[in-house]
Amino acid sequence: MAIERIVNTGVHDDGTDDQAEEQFESSLRPKDFKNYIGQERLKKNLKLAIDAAKKREEPIDHVLLYGPPGLGKTTMATVIANEMGAQIRVTSGPAISHAGDLASLLTNLQDGDILFIDEIHRLGRSIEEVLYSAMEDFKLDIMLGKGPSAKSLRLDLPKFTIIGATTRTGALAAPLRDRFGIMHRLEFYNPEEIAQIINRSADILNVKIHPAAATIISSRARLTPRIANRLLKRVRDYADINGDGIIDTHIAHGALDLLEIDAAGLDPADRRLLEAIIDNHSGGPVGVDTLAALTGDERTTIEDFFEPYLLQIGFLERTPRGRKVTDKGYKHVGRKRKGQNETQASLLDEDEIGIVNSND
Ligand SMILES: Nc1ncnc2c1ncn2[C@@H]1O[C@H](COP(=O)(O)OP(=O)(O)OP(=O)(O)O)[C@@H](O)[C@H]1O
Ligand SMILES: [Mg+2]
Repeated sequence: MAIERIVNTGVHDDGTDDQAEEQFESSLRPKDFKNYIGQERLKKNLKLAIDAAKKREEPIDHVLLYGPPGLGKTTMATVIANEMGAQIRVTSGPAISHAGDLASLLTNLQDGDILFIDEIHRLGRSIEEVLYSAMEDFKLDIMLGKGPSAKSLRLDLPKFTIIGATTRTGALAAPLRDRFGIMHRLEFYNPEEIAQIINRSADILNVKIHPAAATIISSRARLTPRIANRLLKRVRDYADINGDGIIDTHIAHGALDLLEIDAAGLDPADRRLLEAIIDNHSGGPVGVDTLAALTGDERTTIEDFFEPYLLQIGFLERTPRGRKVTDKGYKHVGRKRKGQNETQASLLDEDEIGIVNSND
């Protein structure tokens, strides 16, 4: 259990997760556009916005970054701050529980500062409202007192930029969403970009890795930088114990097999999810709540962690009536649809996995 959850959600069963993981991640975090690999369209748009803002000597527009976990939203927020030469303050939706928390954050900013709000979809509705008027005209309306004697007070705020990050834009109120001048979806990376990220991280961590081994790891990292870095760490441990610390193809295969990550980058939990739909619902369609009850996962875990990648590689499809396992998904777990004969259901070869790169 522990292993598969490290890969999928980053949560360790023993609760020792966050700090060490956070440190590891921030040590590998690119600080500028040059080191931020991939997401070319996003970088191009942001560079333009940053250059224009600098020329006008203004802060850049509010930015909303969305997409599945681990694709580099937080990293991009710090890159923007660095490229702007701006100060960044970091908070998150769940951390702002009262309008007063937001007021004190905003009034403590200085001109040009960036306020990064992670998980912005988890802000309360009343706080969203305060935020969007602040974003629009840099004014903060606060109510003093209650009832007939209540007075409203209008405070001027510095010219700041909000960078919001979310895995789900659908959960954001439309008026808040509309206040972001720049909205961008982060896409899955292609395997070449993931290999570059692995090589860069290996360099920083002083790990020797053969290019072919980086390619193997990159093909199993769910097209996601965070997972690529985590796999690198696990393979490094394996190399230290089972070899001389150098990661070659033999070591990479050995470690990945131990982690039970298959050629498509799926771990046992992903395969169980596909099998649950096949065994209990003849391949679907099945609603996400039913699925959550079947696998014992949270609905949000399924929606945020499992699904995006399974959809991306075409093992799962979304229909109005729920999720369906595709023929490719059936084949990958070695199952056959009712009425299909045995020979059609063979395991999928590595090179049969079509990776759709939607970066353009
Ligand atoms: N484009 C990139 N180039 C190199 N490394 C990257 C890139 N994007 C992300 N990473 C690495 O992946 C890790 C995860 O990225 P990050 O924390 O920014 O993801 P996130 O989108 O904010 O995820 P979450 O939704 O879980 O907050 C970081 O440690 C970072 O080093
Ligand atoms: Mg983040």
